[in-house]
Amino acid sequence: MLTVTRTLWRTTGGVRAIAVIVFASPKGGAGKSTSAVLLACELAASVHKVTVIDADPNRPVCAWGRLPGRPDNLTVIEDATEDTIIRTIEDAAKASDYVIVDLEGTATMMVAFAISRANLVIVPTQPSQLDAAQAAKAVRLVRKQEEAFKISIPMAVLFTRSNAAIQTRDQRRLQESFENSGVTVFDVRLIERVAYRALFAYGGTLTSLDPAQVSGVPAAIENARAFAIAVLSTLEASALARAEVA
Ligand SMILES: Nc1ncnc2c1ncn2[C@@H]1O[C@H](COP(=O)(O)OP(=O)(O)OP(=O)(O)O)[C@@H](O)[C@H]1O
Ligand SMILES: [Mg+2]
Repeated sequence: MLTVTRTLWRTTGGVRAIAVIVFASPKGGAGKSTSAVLLACELAASVHKVTVIDADPNRPVCAWGRLPGRPDNLTVIEDATEDTIIRTIEDAAKASDYVIVDLEGTATMMVAFAISRANLVIVPTQPSQLDAAQAAKAVRLVRKQEEAFKISIPMAVLFTRSNAAIQTRDQRRLQESFENSGVTVFDVRLIERVAYRALFAYGGTLTSLDPAQVSGVPAAIENARAFAIAVLSTLEASALARAEVA
């Protein structure tokens, strides 16, 4: 993990705020807040400062952040509004190594503004046809923002709450359908795990959960780490692509 982070530093010239990562999907319950917190905790374990902007009026990440055990170098910002979101992202980016934005499950101006400032938009979706149709709406919104601002916004779909045992035929078909329309799908899926729900009940990070109280903690840690590495590799690939274009 640290190696990938360092490589990313080098490819981006060691400039602070190398990445603004935005979690977006109009589908409620897709796994945005859960994946955002998992990624933030993984990054906080190996970099100096991570900021999460909780841009959902229900403030789920703030609620997690108020529980005991939040890493000291992980800050949660809660007062973002449609009027302030761009400034909030830019200010956080100046002061952080990574900025993560958790958005609400609707298509609002705030969602569009946040996407326009992203180095990577992650679209979590459960691997079902109905959910994927909602994820496709987020994909279209990102593309509209690219058109409107004449910029390229890297984006990847993340299958979440997936069945641990197997990649189903449905999942493979959905993955192919995203890829055929030019959308990257992370190879790593976030598995449905009690430990991920427990984070929001107990607070802290996966490593601070008590394996005597919560089942499957080691497997959850392994899965979350693999997800974070996949995110860093995607960011690295898009930074390299930008460097080649420049
Ligand atoms: N990988 C997972 N394993 C187990 N439970 C999960 C997982 N991902 C999400 N959940 C649970 O599913 C529910 C919805 O997840 P979450 O709040 O992360 O979705 P969301 O996309 O942020 O929803 P909203 O649109 O309402 O903000 C929560 O109860 C959460 O604990
Ligand atoms: Mg949420």
